[in-house]
This record gives sequence, structure tokens and C-alpha cells, in this order.
Amino acid sequence: MAQIFQPTPENLDFLSEVFRWGNIAAIPTETVYGLACNALDPQAVSKVFAAKGRPSTNPLIVHIDSLDDLETYAVVPQSAQKLIDAFWPGPLTLIFPKTEVVPDTVTAGLDSVAIRMPSHPVFRELGKRCDFPIAAPSANPFGYVSPTTSTHVMRTMGDKINWILEGGTCSGGIESTILSYKNPSQPTILRHGGIPIDALESILGRKILSKEVVVEEADQSLEAPGLLKRHYSPETRIELFTGTPPLLSEQEAIVLLQKGGRSSDSVFHFSENGLIEEIARNLYKVLQEIDQKQFKRVFIETPPTEGIGVAICDRLTRAAAQE
Ligand code: TXA
Ligand code: MG
Repeated sequence: MAQIFQPTPENLDFLSEVFRWGNIAAIPTETVYGLACNALDPQAVSKVFAAKGRPSTNPLIVHIDSLDDLETYAVVPQSAQKLIDAFWPGPLTLIFPKTEVVPDTVTAGLDSVAIRMPSHPVFRELGKRCDFPIAAPSANPFGYVSPTTSTHVMRTMGDKINWILEGGTCSGGIESTILSYKNPSQPTILRHGGIPIDALESILGRKILSKEVVVEEADQSLEAPGLLKRHYSPETRIELFTGTPPLLSEQEAIVLLQKGGRSSDSVFHFSENGLIEEIARNLYKVLQEIDQKQFKRVFIETPPTEGIGVAICDRLTRAAAQE
């Protein structure tokens, strides 16, 4: 069973050794907890795939803690520099052509690599102690709800790993936005996330495409497996709604965007006052919580599709999808 480690200097030193010796551990980032290892060690990367039950065709994000290392792993077009300046460290993952330093296991054989620089202070402290980049998918079993606390990781992955680094509740609560620079003249969103598309567009001063617009559904699993129709899914059956809340029957529950007049064991809310950042922060926490109860069906209110609301609706739609 996993042990939770407080982020003391001694424990951070210890975890950097854990990685150096080819082992895996769960670590906090500002988006969600990651299941991490040395990205340059193919055997360690295979352990991450195995623990998560993730198909080896689904590549991992490589996390760095300093810009000095970026060009060792990726060929970065000039046009991406403005985004790096504006959003790193933070919840933006950029996909670039890879260098040969990056093992094929990490990129699932693709000639591109996904790179991100997390801002979580505990990640930064750990990253400083590692002389290699850190590969990490979210620290949940493949297809299940992502973890935003060490308790979530313990509950769903505790029997698969030995170490979980404590970093408190993730402040963002939703995964990074993934933007592909495979075609440098046409940056394309592969996954909506913590940085809204309009924030990217205003820095670049141009329109950005979304994958859904340019690629047939059949191609999606290979190019960006995060776009799978069913993903981020609790066991409990989910139905989405906007507007008037449905009436509840026996063993049904409801999640509202904002705390309202109704209060009972079957009424939950994502936020106190409807702020979209708070809804994002609590999204997975509430999904994890309702999945611990025995509801037959849960109705979930969706936010407007603006700003990070786009990413929240994306996750909820996939969470609710029936295969
Ligand atoms: O916020 C996040 O991004 C979190 C934290 C831990 O950093 N990580 C995360 O990783 O969400 P994961 O593995 O759950 O999702 C990464 C997504 C996957 O859908 C994967 O297919 C895609 O990134 N990806 C990785 N490398 C890629 C590449 N070279 N080309 C296309 N998609 C890639
Ligand atoms: Mg994931």
C-alpha cells in the first residue's frame, strides 16, 4: 500500500532518488496529481503505463522545471515563444517535434513530444532535484476520474504504487490545455484545459483551431487519445442538464453549479457562488465523492461554454458518455 509523504526537503531528496533508480511515484501539480517517473528511462515509463492500465499507444506528457532544458527534448518554433513566455509555468502543454533524446516509449512512437512546465511549488522543488525531465499522466486508473487530492490517488491507485507526494488540493483542478505545434503555421488545440482558448488567441493575435474541427472522429484515438469519447468517467451513471433541475427519484442525486436553497444528502454543488474557477477546482472532487455513494443516477448541471467552462463541459460530456 502507498505511503503519503509530506514535501519536506528530506522527502523531496528521497523521491528524486526514487526516480533516479527507475521507480514511480504520484506527485502533485497545479492541475491534477500525476503518476511520475524519469522520462528518459524507458523501463520506468513502462511501469507507469502498467500501473495505470494505460494502452502503450497513448503518449505521456514530459514535465520540465527549467526553460534551459526545453531544446534538449523538443524543436521549438519561434512562433511558440510568446505562449511559453505568457503561460509557463502553468497549465499549458505544447506539442513539438521531438529530439532523439526522448525515448519512443514516452511518445508512443510518435515523432512529437508533449511538454509542460507545472507551477505547483512542490513540483518545482522536486523538479529542481531531478537532473532529468518527469513523465506523468494523471494518477488515476485509465479512463477514470482524475485525482485532485492525495486521498483520491490513495483510493484509486494506492495498491499499485509505493509513494504519494502530498501537495494539498490542486488549485486548478482540470488538466492542462494541449496545443499542438506539429504544424508550426497552424497551432491546434487537442484538449481544452486550464488555459482557455481565447487567452491563447489573444497572446498569439490569431485564431487557433480545435481538433474537433479538423479531424474525423475515427482518427482521434491515434492523434490525441485524450479525446476519447468516454473518459474521466465515474462508475455512477451521469446525465447532464442546463436550466430547470429535474425532479429526483429514489437513489438519484443532483450536482448544481452553485450552492442553492435545496440541501439534502442527494444535493451537491461545485461551488459556493458560481465562480467558474471554483467549479473547475471542485469538478473531479465532487465526481470522486458521488462515486463513493451508491446512487443509481446523478444529474449534473453544466456551465456555460465560455472560458474554462469549455474544458469543464468537455470533461463532463466524456464522463457522461456511455461507451
Ligand atoms: O494537467 C495535465 O496535463 C496532467 C498533469 C499530471 O500534468 N497530465 C495529464 O496527462 O493530463 P494525461 O496522460 O492524462 O493526458 C495527456 C494527454 C493524453 O491524451 C495524450 O494522448 C496526449 O496528452 N499526448 C501526449 N503526448 C502527445 C503527443 N506527442 N501528441 C498528441 N497527444 C499527446
Ligand atoms: Mg488523464
